[in-house]
Amino acid sequence: MTQQATDINSLNKGVAGSGAACSGVAGSGAAGSGAAGPGAADKPRVVFDVQGLTRVYQTGGVAVHALRGVDLKLYDGEFVVLLGASGSGKSTLLNILGGLDTATAGQVLYTPAASRKLQQAPQAESSYDLTHATEKQLTDYRRHHVGFVFQFYNLIPSLTARENITVVTEIALQPMQPEEALALVNLTERQDHFPAQLSGGEQQRVAIARAVAKNPAVLLCDEPTGALDSKTGIVVLEALQRANNTLGTTTVVITHNVTIAQIADRVIQLVDGKISRVSVNETRCSPSDLHW
Ligand SMILES: Nc1ncnc2c1ncn2[C@@H]1O[C@H](COP(=O)(O)OP(=O)(O)O)[C@@H](O)[C@H]1O
Ligand SMILES: [Mg+2]
Repeated sequence: MTQQATDINSLNKGVAGSGAACSGVAGSGAAGSGAAGPGAADKPRVVFDVQGLTRVYQTGGVAVHALRGVDLKLYDGEFVVLLGASGSGKSTLLNILGGLDTATAGQVLYTPAASRKLQQAPQAESSYDLTHATEKQLTDYRRHHVGFVFQFYNLIPSLTARENITVVTEIALQPMQPEEALALVNLTERQDHFPAQLSGGEQQRVAIARAVAKNPAVLLCDEPTGALDSKTGIVVLEALQRANNTLGTTTVVITHNVTIAQIADRVIQLVDGKISRVSVNETRCSPSDLHW
């Protein structure tokens, strides 16, 4: 079945992944969570409105069409899993949403909450077109609005867990305390350890703490469990889900693991640079319910 739905109120409900029963996640604080289906009273706020997004890479005289006209809305506070085979365009889409890459054609409108207006932008403006932003605006956007988590943790080896976070919070406008961010990922006891003294899963949780410590509106994660065994991956996903529940940060997680899709509010599947399916999970699974 192919479905090119872009509006949360027009989506078919259905549990993505294997369909296994799960106990669900208590206390989901996400405004745009799975409860907001057809007929929901308060429509969640659109944070990203993506239209006709196209990205063509020209390498050695060959044109690679990474994105072929993506239409998509992302809602305030929701937890989205972006699924797709290798090469389907997941990272390209995430990088454009995060202001790390720019589109060949199409538009990405970003509408921050009033408290998160871009510093350089005129007061009256409420939406920002990332596809026509200046380098300065994109830098400002990345610095103050987006937290990134990548497959490899990119921690500074000579700094402790807490110091790795301080590097970011010192230039942030409304940061959390590094200790608070480490507590959110259950690493209070390890704050004075260096990356080499931490396991892969612990390093990734430091990276998550670093990403959320600046209080970003958006958390973008590219295969955050890709380098981890399943048990460790589940602990990392629990940290992401807790951050989403506690802070209400709109969260997008890339994976090619269909099982992981069960922890999302919505699952967006990419095939060959296009959205092939969008589904809403009636119940969000807790990562501890998953097995792979
Ligand atoms: N910087 C780049 N230069 C050339 N081709 C690229 C570049 N980035 C991605 N691609 C190509 O675009 C397509 C989509 O890549 P990507 O978004 O990384 O997919 P995914 O993350 O789903 O594996 C692939 O064919 C990839 O080789
Ligand atoms: Mg990728």
